[in-house]
Amino acid sequence: NAHQKANLLLAGKRVLVSAGPTQEKIDPVRFFTNRSSGKMGFAIAEAAADMGADVTLVAGPVALDTSNPRIERIDVTTAEQMYEEMHAHFSNQDIVIKAAAVADYRPKSVYNEKLKKQPNDWNVEMERTKDILLSLGEKKLDQFLIGFAAETTNPEEYGMNKLKKKNLDAIVVNNVASDGAGFGVDTNIVTYINRNQKVDKIPLASKREIAEKILELALRDQKEDKA
Ligand code: CTP
Ligand code: CA
Repeated sequence: NAHQKANLLLAGKRVLVSAGPTQEKIDPVRFFTNRSSGKMGFAIAEAAADMGADVTLVAGPVALDTSNPRIERIDVTTAEQMYEEMHAHFSNQDIVIKAAAVADYRPKSVYNEKLKKQPNDWNVEMERTKDILLSLGEKKLDQFLIGFAAETTNPEEYGMNKLKKKNLDAIVVNNVASDGAGFGVDTNIVTYINRNQKVDKIPLASKREIAEKILELALRDQKEDKA
């Protein structure tokens, strides 16, 4: 079957994946987060493991399980923790895929006690988190580095800009506004764009099938780099 055919493609390779949202807390009972379910990133980790890779999966808070023994799962909560774990595991990887939806901002102050409501409006001051993918792009040597881009308008143009800015080898652009794609669902529609601006559209399919396709395209481009 298809899984067995794909089985050997990533044998001997190391794949690092990040998945899910991050949570940035403001007090013991409240946090800021986003709508990522983690399904796309988990599908990539499972597909890579089934294709023979040794997988490290850095997961934000998600309601998903992993069963494949080839997946080493590291659970994190915040963007800062994800930054630390991605850097700690980056050096010996062949392919690194940053499917996580990292919070761009976090509360500037974190309160140790539950905040009590006040009579008036409330303004929360937020500060930028580190851009994990940008920092990995700056440090990358041989790793084939893939980012994701969640866009609601001009997906290919914005995606291409992110690819260049973050020194990526490829970017997977998600139009989160289109039907059958994006948050929570089991299907997706994406566009894979490589460094040479070659565009591969992957039409509506299960996240698992899309995961396999992304990994195949990454292998194609990585071979081309080495040839
Ligand atoms: N990313 C990251 N660290 C951040 C923010 C984003 O590693 N602090 C990564 C995501 O995991 C994804 C890629 O950058 O692989 C693009 O994320 P996206 O939110 O689409 O882009 P941003 O660069 O954050 O820009 P914006 O949200 O303004 O579109
Ligand atoms: Ca962002």
